Amino acid sequence: MSRYVVTGGAGFIGSAIVRALLRAGASEVAVIDNLLTGHELNLDEVRGSIEFHRADIRNYDEIAGILRGADVVFHEAAIPSVPRSIDEPVPSHEININGTFNVLLAAKAGGVGRVVYAASSSAYGDTEVLPKVEAMITRPKSPYALQKLVGEYYCNIFSGVYGLETVALRYFNVYGPRQDPSSPYSGVLSIFMKSVLERCSPTIFGDGEQSRDFTYVEDVAELNLKAARAKNVSGNLYNAGNGGRITLNQAWALVQRLSGVEIPAKYGPPRAGDVHDSQADTTRAVRDLGHAPKFSFEDGMRRTLEWYRRAAAA
Ligand SMILES: NC(=O)c1ccc[n+]([C@@H]2O[C@H](COP(=O)([O-])OP(=O)(O)OC[C@H]3O[C@@H](n4cnc5c(N)ncnc54)[C@H](O)[C@@H]3O)[C@@H](O)[C@H]2O)c1
Repeated sequence: MSRYVVTGGAGFIGSAIVRALLRAGASEVAVIDNLLTGHELNLDEVRGSIEFHRADIRNYDEIAGILRGADVVFHEAAIPSVPRSIDEPVPSHEININGTFNVLLAAKAGGVGRVVYAASSSAYGDTEVLPKVEAMITRPKSPYALQKLVGEYYCNIFSGVYGLETVALRYFNVYGPRQDPSSPYSGVLSIFMKSVLERCSPTIFGDGEQSRDFTYVEDVAELNLKAARAKNVSGNLYNAGNGGRITLNQAWALVQRLSGVEIPAKYGPPRAGDVHDSQADTTRAVRDLGHAPKFSFEDGMRRTLEWYRRAAAA
């Protein structure tokens, strides 16, 4: 019987991984989360099927026993925001770098089978060429991007030096149900959903022509499960995107079309640390992990809007 641990499992992506594991028949799933940005509500319907530990990855002793003997640890816990890492670099550093180091140390000490790490496409920075390929030189533009990149390097070092199996997945702007829209640091599409339901203009930073490879959360959760099973991939790094590219203006136009509400966006100054364009080359993830995203942007956005509508009505 396999034991799985999801750090940050009460968050947006972590809770989707928890549900994907349960759907796949996992019987032992433990969540570690300090509820900094996550919510127990995200685990509501699965709460009876999992262990929930309110614990902090900055505290080795709090997490070591929970990780011990796990077959796979999905490490999602982080402060996942570029602007927040600029405004509050200290907690961001402590959680994203020191916390990740603790997770890897505890995984090594506890004989964990594999750590699958939530890396970030922000590590690339502004590349001269699109799509972005894993072999490209990284040029992080923010504390967050650098912190997530350090986590990748640590995964690779723990694999090469200590023989701990690790796989790093560079997520590209994940969106979908349960993404928390309540903070100015929230993901742009969750803010678009909130804006359209409240019938107010979102603020787009810059001219809206910046582009992203938006990836539906269920596709990311499935890829995590594939990364947990794949053979001969330890120490490797993979783009976990869709391969597409959508501008923020196009995304806002789609939200308006799907919702039948027309509201012009407001525009503000571009934000420090933001990358202009992002698009994944998924060749390596397809070849080694069997990555096969199922959701087109329009499908994913339709499902996401339905979920936000239901949540607002509840
Ligand atoms: N959402 C994206 O587009 C995206 C893109 C690239 C990478 N990522 C990475 O994916 C992961 C999940 O992000 P998300 O979008 O689900 O964000 P999220 O904020 O919903 O999830 C992060 C979770 O980590 C928890 N957490 C934070 N600090 C913690 C600590 N010290 N100890 C224990 N738990 C802690 C939070 O409470 C939250 O539940 C993060 O590692 C993030 O860097 C996300």
